Amino acid sequence: MEKLALFGGAPVRTKPFPKWPRFTEALKNNLIYTLEHDLWGVGSDAISRFEKAFAEYHDAKYCISTSSGTTALWVALKAAGVKAGDEVIVPPYTFIATASAVLMANAIPVFVDVELDTFNIDPERIESAITEKTKVIMPVHIAGNPAQMDKISALAGKHGIAVIEDAAQAHGAEWKGRKVGALGLGGIFSFQTSKNMTAGEGGAIISDDQEFMDACFAYHNCGRVRGGKWYEHQHLGGNFRLNAMAASMLTTQLQTLEQEMQLRDRNSARLDEALTEIPGLTPVKTYPETTRVAHHIYLARYDRSQFHNIPREKFFKAMQAEGVFTYAGYPPLYREKLFVTDAEEYPWLQNINYREMYFPNTERIANEEAVWLKQNHLLGTEEDIQDIVDAFVKVTNVMRQQPELFE
Ligand SMILES: Cc1ncc(COP(=O)(O)O)c(C=O)c1O
Repeated sequence: MEKLALFGGAPVRTKPFPKWPRFTEALKNNLIYTLEHDLWGVGSDAISRFEKAFAEYHDAKYCISTSSGTTALWVALKAAGVKAGDEVIVPPYTFIATASAVLMANAIPVFVDVELDTFNIDPERIESAITEKTKVIMPVHIAGNPAQMDKISALAGKHGIAVIEDAAQAHGAEWKGRKVGALGLGGIFSFQTSKNMTAGEGGAIISDDQEFMDACFAYHNCGRVRGGKWYEHQHLGGNFRLNAMAASMLTTQLQTLEQEMQLRDRNSARLDEALTEIPGLTPVKTYPETTRVAHHIYLARYDRSQFHNIPREKFFKAMQAEGVFTYAGYPPLYREKLFVTDAEEYPWLQNINYREMYFPNTERIANEEAVWLKQNHLLGTEEDIQDIVDAFVKVTNVMRQQPELFE
């Protein structure tokens, strides 16, 4: 039996995995072109070119670029008509912005547990969370793996509620052959550094609904209305606009996205296949209706009962020592300190005790099962992927056969 690097053996991998974000000459050239020849902000060709290209790529009629995914969420919620004290249904297993944007819109995040096998919001649990105050259901396509949009849309339709997709991690993902983001009223994307398309920071809202997008325009642009005067502010909005340099980088990355997606598809499939041979490590599932996953994070489940109850954190330590950085990811959102709110500041939250909430699937995923691998690992060669597989196999074999080493 090979000696684990954790216990002084040779690591499987000493080389770094592919770097992200990726520099290209095209990025540099287009950025310099924008700097030299275009406006740097409002009115630039680079911004309108990006918005047009991103809407088209995502099978949507309209796109408004924003300064971040978080600001896109706030803008979209406001534009969907969310008002103080309204409720927005969100999963508790996601990045904090999904819920904090709801708080920032003076609304109430209502958590609905996720499914164990997809880590996505459980559509079967949504209806019982709907009240007369529910304005929006906000599914998150977690790790770029689409949520169950048919069931969510049907429920939203039945109750007259809007669906805003948090597609921050889902560039290029598809539900029944259509790209995500504008499947409901609208959706948002993030272009923060880790994302599969990035300008360092940035975001976008897409939709087919002109009225909604007109409202988004106002909220992201200091409350100005389309066609209005520069100093005329009809809503309480902010400056949440993207700059032209970022837009030029994003348009350039749209050219390489498909190629990178194909590589992530291939490499994820290789990892999925390898994990079928390792009892106790299971890739998350996708729905049959999902025609493309964006693979923003490679997600699997760790079943400690298959490894003599060795806790997941010890598995992570052993994997990290082998040169493959796997980690736990999100805690349950409702445990975050920010949910201990001041009743004077947020009177509509005063009867809600988030710290006492308990969503069993979220707890199990966050505390025991989730295994994360960042998307840059999926941009490697077959040999890179083989190193990841070898590390999984080596570590799990030792855990299974020499559990006493982990005591
Ligand atoms: C699911 C989700 N929603 C929202 C956001 C917020 O995006 P940003 O970091 O661009 O504000 C992110 C990313 O960070 C995210 O992963």
